[in-house]
Amino acid sequence: MSLLSIQRLTKNFGGLTAVNNVSFDVEQGSVVGLIGPNGAGKTTVFNLITGIYQPDQGAISFEQASLLRLPTHRIVSLGIARTFQTIRLFQNMSVLENVLAGCHCRMKSGILSSMFHFPRQQREERAAIDRALKALDFVGLRDQAENLSKNLSYGNQRLLEIARALGTEPRLLVLDEPAGGMNENETAQLVSLIERIRGMGITVLLIEHDMSLVMRVCEQIVVLEYGSKIAEGSPEEIQRNERVIAAYLGTEDG
Ligand SMILES: Nc1ncnc2c1ncn2[C@@H]1O[C@H](COP(=O)(O)OP(=O)(O)OP(=O)(O)O)[C@@H](O)[C@H]1O
Ligand SMILES: [Mg+2]
Repeated sequence: MSLLSIQRLTKNFGGLTAVNNVSFDVEQGSVVGLIGPNGAGKTTVFNLITGIYQPDQGAISFEQASLLRLPTHRIVSLGIARTFQTIRLFQNMSVLENVLAGCHCRMKSGILSSMFHFPRQQREERAAIDRALKALDFVGLRDQAENLSKNLSYGNQRLLEIARALGTEPRLLVLDEPAGGMNENETAQLVSLIERIRGMGITVLLIEHDMSLVMRVCEQIVVLEYGSKIAEGSPEEIQRNERVIAAYLGTEDG
């Protein structure tokens, strides 16, 4: 069954068509890669899915319901969480506080009512802390909970972003270049983390330039070039697709 469905999506920035009539489906329980040379429109697709931009044309549906015109926080509470190409953490907050910032979308009482310490508020806070610690444990950062985010290594900051996304209890996790800036060892850990995330039943859509990671973890790959979809298929099919090879040979990404 398709969890996320993208139909004929188009986004223009002035005279530039960043995403051009793109359609693809993400099956429930799968790991799907979105690849393509720099400027191909990958991050724009993510920004359209997560409500940061509205498309000029096309449809996006999640569990058969349209995401169009919904604000980002509503999309998160429906079950889509993301990380960003450029790390976006509260650098002067602790690791735990960063994950808690994501958990608030699952809390019913407003942040303001926390000043009054209603019992329900306290229960929700405790549950959020439990959820945050579980997410940190899952990515291997439990022992860093009290550290300031800015003191984490670059690779661990990327893992913290994933923990924050997991803290919102998503059904679909959208990762924009999760291995960007990671060394070989960290990338290997990331591969096993993505496999464990899939094992929990969370569907993953990821953008990545590290082809060996993409080929290892994705069962389906969608390729964009200049905003248009030029190929879609299994890792084997994509690796021998002439159009994909030509698109990559024309860039320095390899
Ligand atoms: N807010 C914006 N305003 C104007 N142009 C934009 C905006 N966002 C993206 N673009 C342009 O749209 C095109 C696609 O950009 P996008 O960031 O989606 O590419 P990408 O595939 O993620 O590339 P990379 O691999 O370098 O991250 C680029 O030409 C980019 O300059
Ligand atoms: Mg990008």
